[in-house]
Amino acid sequence: MLRDLFDRNRAWSEQRQADDSGYFSRLAAQQAPEFFWIGCSDSRVPANVVAGLDPGEVFVHRNVANVVHSADMNLLSALEFAVEALAVREIIVCGHYGCGGVKAATEDMPHGLADHWLEPIRRLARAYAVDLAMCASDEARRDKLSELNVIEGVRRISETPILQKAWRCGTNLRVHGLIYGLRDGRLTALDCSIGPGHFLNEGVYGSAKERPWL
Ligand code: CO
Repeated sequence: MLRDLFDRNRAWSEQRQADDSGYFSRLAAQQAPEFFWIGCSDSRVPANVVAGLDPGEVFVHRNVANVVHSADMNLLSALEFAVEALAVREIIVCGHYGCGGVKAATEDMPHGLADHWLEPIRRLARAYAVDLAMCASDEARRDKLSELNVIEGVRRISETPILQKAWRCGTNLRVHGLIYGLRDGRLTALDCSIGPGHFLNEGVYGSAKERPWL
């Protein structure tokens, strides 16, 4: 199987080279992606493929159920690099219907380490129990929870000191929430985008001018 992988790689690189002789030398010199994608590790939702983007066009972080943990150093390191070094213009949190991680979070049985990882989704399910109870089926309930998880991820990304600092510095950067349908291959916007001017504690602990340290 590994041999097959090398064969496919060789065929792909030769085809790319044939289509565009400067392709690899250009990409090797620098990457300048417009997008930072935070998605699920699910093998059926590869960022480049479902978004129709070429190598070099999207910087990617993926984890089980695209959870945004506020202290996940892996995600935060990638986010900081994407915002400050690559200067991406759009950040996308993308979930998907039929997510196994979201399903695991709704099951009343142990899943090992995943139960620690998926804790934010369990919390969401409790917080939105009334809304979820109105869904017609378990599948619909899990899909709704997948959407809520994306929206929560968008909020959490927006609340990181990394985004707060970028907006404070006048960077025109937006965070979007999308959901992918495994059945039809379509991306749908969840209308939860957050952009410049979204500051934490605004109107709660004083105005932006009084917090110059941000
Ligand atoms: Co998933």
